[in-house]
Amino acid sequence: MAVNTRFGQGLIVLTGVVILCGFFTAPSGVVAATLPEHIGTMLRVTARLGFALLLVAYVSRPFFQLSGWGRELLLLRRYVGLSAALSLTVHFGYVVTYLRVSGEPLDLLTVSFGGAGFVLAWAMTLTSSRAAQQKLGTYWRRLHLTGMHYLWLIFMQTFVGRVLAGDSAWAEGMAVLGLVALAIRLSAWLNQRFSRTA
Ligand code: HEM
Repeated sequence: MAVNTRFGQGLIVLTGVVILCGFFTAPSGVVAATLPEHIGTMLRVTARLGFALLLVAYVSRPFFQLSGWGRELLLLRRYVGLSAALSLTVHFGYVVTYLRVSGEPLDLLTVSFGGAGFVLAWAMTLTSSRAAQQKLGTYWRRLHLTGMHYLWLIFMQTFVGRVLAGDSAWAEGMAVLGLVALAIRLSAWLNQRFSRTA
């Protein structure tokens, strides 16, 4: 087995371990009195972890193009994306639990835009193999590019919403990281455009 594959699989396992650590350190999900707190904590843990991993996948290629550093990270990108999808899938599980426990009605906007985020993340997971990449050709690139930008947008919309509500220092940090990642992508894109026209 290639070293990258081993590292990559290790990263997925590590993501699972971090989620489990969150699970066991969160208020108990077994006791009814602390269940809402448990769900809230796990929604935040899985969202923050998922976003951090998504950002690493989001910047790995542009960062390498700009600096020449991070070839190893580029090779691991697929596993970083799969780890982000794992965290987002657990988020989905907690979203379903939250809706059942709170009895809160879901508005059409959240179902459509949030639901599309999960669907895209799973579509990217199912087509993450090299074989799927070769088979789908340009459609693969379109799916993965659209998916990454879309997920970035949904995450940012949620974090910025919390920043504006002024109730989370974490959200501020995550929103700043999201903007830095976007700036790296934009710089690499502009760099490529100008070097083509020069
Ligand atoms: C139907 C879809 C979804 C529902 C109903 C939902 C619901 C929730 C809930 C109830 C919270 C906890 C809010 C709080 O702490 O007060 C949360 C947090 C969050 N969710 Fe989701 N979610 C959905 C989909 C998504 C998707 C697709 C993403 C990202 C692509 C996402 C990203 C986030 C983020 C960034 C947070 C905030 C974490 C923090 O405050 O640190 N959610 N979500």
